[in-house]
Amino acid sequence: MQIIVFLGAPGAGKGTAAVRIAEKLPAKHISTGAMLREAVKNGTPAGLAAKSYMDAGSLVPDSVLIDMIGELLTASTPDSVFLFDGFPRNESQAAALDELAVKFNAEVGPAVCIDVCEELLLKRLGGRRVCPACGAGFHVLSLPPKVEGVCDVCQAKLITRADDQPETIKHRLEVYEEQTAPLIEWYKKAGKLRMVDGSGDADAVADAIMEVIR
Ligand code: AP5
Repeated sequence: MQIIVFLGAPGAGKGTAAVRIAEKLPAKHISTGAMLREAVKNGTPAGLAAKSYMDAGSLVPDSVLIDMIGELLTASTPDSVFLFDGFPRNESQAAALDELAVKFNAEVGPAVCIDVCEELLLKRLGGRRVCPACGAGFHVLSLPPKVEGVCDVCQAKLITRADDQPETIKHRLEVYEEQTAPLIEWYKKAGKLRMVDGSGDADAVADAIMEVIR
């Protein structure tokens, strides 16, 4: 079992790149943000525990995430290749992932950090539109749908994510700096870090990631 980790600030393009890389490798794309949004939608115990944190742009308690990832790995086969987008998000989650990796005989890495300046992060988050039905992501300028406001994949009406409001974005960026950015050093020390410039278009970023993953 192999677990590739994607790091990067909110709006860096982790999800957009993960969809492309998962198809190229192939690997299974695991977005903890998407899993939590689904849990909230379905009113599951994990969703009920997560909702207020997500609305505020804060991290959901570690125990919720670690249980989710533990269940996922328990249900997986030894030859699975995962692309984790949004987990781990702090040092205690990274330590838990290392423990799970020992338990499931999995290799963690490489950890790919998509690097984007704050000005571009704000533009990307401000123009993001998502499909509430299938989860596909778009951007009003850089990745517009074929028909304005309509999902290319399933034709549902696109929405703005609840946590893409200016005040919540500001808090999410602060949380990233305080809690998630230290993981860059964590994976650097482990010899697993691969930095990638995320400022190019979506295909260019995916190509750059494929280069460092190989
Ligand atoms: P999550 O869904 O993981 O949000 P995030 O990390 O804030 O990341 P985003 O999804 O906002 O950004 P992205 O980097 O994926 O960018 P995207 O590809 O969409 O988490 C949401 C919440 O869930 C968290 O706040 C927290 O509450 C909770 N949570 C999740 N995981 C957790 C964990 N492990 N522990 C605790 N809590 C957790 O791109 C953004 C926009 O830019 C899009 O419009 C896209 O079309 C566009 N774009 C992307 N790349 C390019 C490009 N190369 N060129 C042009 N446009 C691009």
